[in-house]
Amino acid sequence: RCSDLNAELGGNPKRSSWGPPALPVEPALYDRPFPFYRRPAEVGRFSLDAQRCYHGDARQLRYFAPPATMHPTPPFDLRHGYRDRYVRRDEGLREGLEHLLRGSQTLFWAWRGQVLTTPYERQEGWLLAVSLFRGTLYISEEETPATQLQREQRSETLKELTYMGYKFERYMCADTPDGSPDPTGVVNTNEAFCTVVRTRLGSHSLLFAGEVDCTDPCGPWAEPPACYIELKTCKELHSPAQRRSFYRYKLIKWWAQSFLPGVSRIMAGFRAPDGSVVALETFETMKIFQLIRDDPSCWKPAVCMNFCEAFLAFLKRVVTEDDPHLVHLFAWEPGHPVSYTRHHGGEHVFLPTWYVETMSG
Ligand code: A3P
Ligand code: MG
Ligand code: MG
Repeated sequence: RCSDLNAELGGNPKRSSWGPPALPVEPALYDRPFPFYRRPAEVGRFSLDAQRCYHGDARQLRYFAPPATMHPTPPFDLRHGYRDRYVRRDEGLREGLEHLLRGSQTLFWAWRGQVLTTPYERQEGWLLAVSLFRGTLYISEEETPATQLQREQRSETLKELTYMGYKFERYMCADTPDGSPDPTGVVNTNEAFCTVVRTRLGSHSLLFAGEVDCTDPCGPWAEPPACYIELKTCKELHSPAQRRSFYRYKLIKWWAQSFLPGVSRIMAGFRAPDGSVVALETFETMKIFQLIRDDPSCWKPAVCMNFCEAFLAFLKRVVTEDDPHLVHLFAWEPGHPVSYTRHHGGEHVFLPTWYVETMSG
């Protein structure tokens, strides 16, 4: 059995002398050529409105509308409206796959980008609940206790920085293809537009949803998901050392989030402490590797993707009982391999009853 596992994990298994197998995460183990990753195809879209209600259409899709005046800097104040025009989503509410399942007739997998960055991550762990139901593995993210604590104890400064990220979107996007941004409106973080994409990594077919900030119908890539643009804010960079550090620790997350669903461009707004934006910079997702390949201590996209493929093989190996009430909870903390626990029934079950009944009926 052990050698089967060896083969399946690409030669990177680890079985402790007691307990179930665990998946190691060291980058060196995954440093091989880039695996096959099919160009993601959009198979669905949905929107969540100001009350976080689901709509199976693109009503919340916004349109990229960069400012006409950029000199000396774009006329943005990212702190504007923080006190009086800000409606925050209840981040404590657990949604899981609810929205994705609603719109899908057939569903394969679902998962989020942070698995990719695991070999390089030093701070934040993750928890993924996994169930096998009618031959399909479902993966749903859970908040870790540490993340929950951080969220509940977020400092005032961090709360304002979070707002600024959303406010940047308001300055860069219009509600209609020919419109202009309206920075006087309310920032409501319940609102979201999501693309549902189908793709394949190695031998694993994947289906997942990703939140998308805007589309650029006039850009070089007209088709979704390549027409989408991810908007990000970042502290202003003052030195080459700060830029290297940005490439190492931040760009990896931006890349992972956009590469998986096939979003082709990321536009960054570099902000000063007063909330103004001092520079805009576009990163082409597919060209990010060029910025980091000469730095030997930097991350490698192939390592991220190979790890992800090994993780999916690990899931398939471990989760073999077809039962929507059985959850394997895969947990990872920096400095450790990926491990799991089994739970039958109870709080970790995430496939909604209505979904299980519909699919069984
Ligand atoms: P920035 O991207 O400018 O940091 P996204 O970039 O994924 O579209 O998210 C929009 C904004 O949501 C982010 O802006 C950030 O302010 C906030 N945000 C995203 N993920 C977050 C997280 N894990 N914790 C706190 N805020 C987050
Ligand atoms: Mg977003
Ligand atoms: Mg964004």
